[in-house]
Amino acid sequence: MTRPVLIALPGNDARADRLAAAVNGDRIALHYRRFPDGESYLRIDAELTDRDVVLVATLDRPDPKIPRLLFAADLVRDLGARSVLLVAPYLPYMRQDHRFHPGEALTSVSFAERISAAFDGLVTVDPHLHRYPTLDAVYSIPGRVVAAAPALAAWIAASIEQPLVVGPDEESEQWVRAVAEARGLPWRVMTKQRFGDHDVRITAPSLAGLDDRRPVLVDDILSSGATLADAARVLVEAGLPMPACAVVHGLFGDRARETLAEAGIETVVCSDTVDAPEARIDLAERIAPAVRELLESC
Ligand code: R5P
Repeated sequence: MTRPVLIALPGNDARADRLAAAVNGDRIALHYRRFPDGESYLRIDAELTDRDVVLVATLDRPDPKIPRLLFAADLVRDLGARSVLLVAPYLPYMRQDHRFHPGEALTSVSFAERISAAFDGLVTVDPHLHRYPTLDAVYSIPGRVVAAAPALAAWIAASIEQPLVVGPDEESEQWVRAVAEARGLPWRVMTKQRFGDHDVRITAPSLAGLDDRRPVLVDDILSSGATLADAARVLVEAGLPMPACAVVHGLFGDRARETLAEAGIETVVCSDTVDAPEARIDLAERIAPAVRELLESC
């Protein structure tokens, strides 16, 4: 396999540098700026004929990032790339996987169609697979899913004494189970009802016999913070200590940090799929094998 070329979309240089080192790839620059009217200008000053190109773009807060990503994919193809892969550690638009109310856009499908048309393969970290069983159910290009659970489990084992792994809702069970089983830890999953973007009610299963444990809430996404805040309230009311939180994708929407602080939560750690001060778990070494595998199959 020839050395792949890694290109960072704006804001992804450090992430692309780490990944290039891990996959033994060449880094080249994408020159990007906005015209005065807000349109995108892109340029690549490098020979890409017959090269395998990996665009690195995490896609939290996606809407301003999508046009330039699609333009960049077209550009590297125009410049002769043999294959064009996308590494999107955070893959957006996975939660609208169902028309919950008549007339709603099924954005997971619309987004997947556009990405599948622009790229030859996709590597991501723990996409929010709830009603879709796999990434292939919605993306038509080859995909590789990297699991953050071993890295979260390693952080918990190194940082928390006597942990109890707790999922705040049924959807979190896949991550909670993987994290707990990686280290032989006890785990529980709570039940959540959502009434609005910032309004959830969580109920706990039996926690009898676990009050000597420090709970660690594990979830795939932290957005408003409402889920973790209410889960913490329920655990404390049940007599357990204030939980720590270990999250795959720390999106930190408006007021999320205030919501967590008001709930008394002090320890929140996320993987580095999204840039944030809390993103202290580096996944480059876990993403690299998936990139190599996909490049070999292209
Ligand atoms: C739910 O589908 C996800 O797994 C997370 O629990 C959810 O996205 C968290 O959102 P928030 O922080 O807004 O409660």
